[in-house]
Amino acid sequence: MSKILEGKSVLVTGAGGGIGAAAALVLGNAGAKLVLSDIADSEGEAAAAAVRDAGGEAVFVKADLGSEAEIKALVGAAVETYGKLDGAFNNAGVEQRNKPLDQLTLEEWELAIRIDLTAVFLCIKHQVQAMLKTGGGAIVNTASSLGQVGLAGAGEYVAAKHGVIGLTRSAGADYGPQGIRVNAILPGITMTPMISRLSNDPQLSAVFDGLRSRHSMGRFGQPDEIGQAVKWMLSDEASFVNGAAIAVDGGYLSI
Ligand SMILES: NC(=O)c1ccc[n+]([C@@H]2O[C@H](COP(=O)([O-])OP(=O)(O)OC[C@H]3O[C@@H](n4cnc5c(N)ncnc54)[C@H](O)[C@@H]3O)[C@@H](O)[C@H]2O)c1
Repeated sequence: MSKILEGKSVLVTGAGGGIGAAAALVLGNAGAKLVLSDIADSEGEAAAAAVRDAGGEAVFVKADLGSEAEIKALVGAAVETYGKLDGAFNNAGVEQRNKPLDQLTLEEWELAIRIDLTAVFLCIKHQVQAMLKTGGGAIVNTASSLGQVGLAGAGEYVAAKHGVIGLTRSAGADYGPQGIRVNAILPGITMTPMISRLSNDPQLSAVFDGLRSRHSMGRFGQPDEIGQAVKWMLSDEASFVNGAAIAVDGGYLSI
């Protein structure tokens, strides 16, 4: 049986984290040749090793997405490794500080906007420059359910994720005519290190109980459930999907 990403070179950011590492495994099993990146090198290296152990192809390249120079070098390394860039999963992110806005510092606001939104812009910018040289590609950006609705204590994250959806829609319009599809995935709460950090806060455990019931399936997601949707969005099977914000959220946004 042919694999739906066979022959495609794909860059994944945040690949050392929960969703990124699980997605990398799914993409690798679907035949993608992967460049995995993260600021955390041991976790990123482990994700690449897991893909290779499963019979896939992956290299790890460390990058801090707070730096445009590092993003440019990362995309350059991906093109150099496989000769082209067909796909990208712009997934790295940082969580909210759980503070109402009057207590949030400008530095905390700027970190969320920088990594959760500006870095996505910079990744798209350099990725499309590479993809245009080979006639097209597909990009998936990780937004969130919180790209469409608010949450107390998460203003900076919610603002950034709403921005990712708007950026995705505009990028889809910019590059659709040139054969590059740009879409956003909106995960509901998914069991990753990010959620462990948030839910381990005793003040937030009750909040998480409430959020579970907001997912109409009555449970949180697993990272590979996000990866399965990303696999399809990056593949030619999604050839008419562009500028879309696709919820994979167990029904969070539906009730
Ligand atoms: N887990 C959820 O419930 C959930 C829900 C909706 C959206 N998301 C989004 O999914 C994405 C992945 O989140 P996750 O839950 O896997 O979290 P995670 O914390 O497990 O992974 C995030 C990864 O991003 C990396 N990263 C952070 N700052 C970076 C930087 N400056 N440069 C490069 N890499 C950096 C981290 O090192 C980490 O490996 C994020 O964009 C997050 O906002 C997560």
